[in-house]
Amino acid sequence: MSEPIRVVVTGAAGQIAYSLLYMIAKGDVFGPNQKLILHLLDIPPMMGVLEGVVMELADCALPLLAGVIPTADPAVGFKDVAAAFLVGAMPRKQGMERKDLLSANVKIFKVQGEALNNNAKKDVKVLVVGNPANTNALVCSHYAPSIPKENFTAMTRLDQNRAQSQIAARLGVGISKVKNIIIWGNHSSTQYPDAKNGTVEIDGSPKSVVEAVANNDYLNAEFVETVQKRGAAVINARKMSSAMSAAKAASDHMRDWFAGTKDGEYVSMGVVSDGSYGIPKDVVFSFPVQIQNGQWKIVQGLSIDDFARGKLDITAKELLEENEEAMAVCASD
Ligand code: NAI
Repeated sequence: MSEPIRVVVTGAAGQIAYSLLYMIAKGDVFGPNQKLILHLLDIPPMMGVLEGVVMELADCALPLLAGVIPTADPAVGFKDVAAAFLVGAMPRKQGMERKDLLSANVKIFKVQGEALNNNAKKDVKVLVVGNPANTNALVCSHYAPSIPKENFTAMTRLDQNRAQSQIAARLGVGISKVKNIIIWGNHSSTQYPDAKNGTVEIDGSPKSVVEAVANNDYLNAEFVETVQKRGAAVINARKMSSAMSAAKAASDHMRDWFAGTKDGEYVSMGVVSDGSYGIPKDVVFSFPVQIQNGQWKIVQGLSIDDFARGKLDITAKELLEENEEAMAVCASD
């Protein structure tokens, strides 16, 4: 058993955290031998609810859980953390414009960026789940200049998991037979779910998804739209947004970042662009990455057809606009 690591979850009294905390605390993310101290950060009005979450964590009787620190103080929440799940964000309220939503979130992610900068370990790995996730990650990184930009990522793993699940169902195979489905771009309805670089194992041998599905119209239209609109479909049915699946995706993302990806396999993460695939530099864009020793690298040389090129450009344009608006709020602050 190694020394406990400190892990913060923000929005800890919310619905994603309710599933996520259990996954982390039972070893799904950092492994069955890694003890943890969980820092639970939320806002002052939620401290009563958070107390209930603390009670339930105790009642789970989890051997890996070496401590729980509930707090509304970002300096305490981010103190010495090695991993940060930034789940809490300002939700879009009725009548709220995108600009209002962005500026409310800039304020939150500025405070949290500064708190990470001043209190977290310098190699902290940060996953932003709270929306708009890509731009929130960029803002957070902007206010944490002493932490490498590469350590700030945004979650598109839920979209990847949704896409993988759609292909597995379409082909009638188990989920683990489908590999290398990519989400490009923003975690928004402009994202481009790309199955055309994917593979599937059928009767023991690997095939390209394009060959196995044998229906490009499906891959370009129905598949893309189903994944893009899956979040809305869950809200329609459940009257609440995806939470269990979002928590599972956050735990997959952080596990792969710490433990690495398997040979020949890649996962999608919102990471700071280096200009790969013609995407503007410095936006937080979801790319396929491979991970070794805690460092991600964008997978190079994948095929981008004209259809994909158009989709990548649309989502990149949206991200540039969001970033400009967010940076304008930062500058006027
Ligand atoms: P929720 O509303 O149930 O919980 C959010 C929690 O964050 C609340 O307890 C709230 O008090 C807290 N919070 C708000 N401001 C905070 C701050 N400054 N510091 C700390 N905590 C703060 O929401 P839920 O369902 O847990 O979703 C959280 C976020 O995740 C939302 O922004 C949602 O849009 C996003 N999301 C992202 C997904 C992705 O794939 N990237 C998927 C699903 C949701």
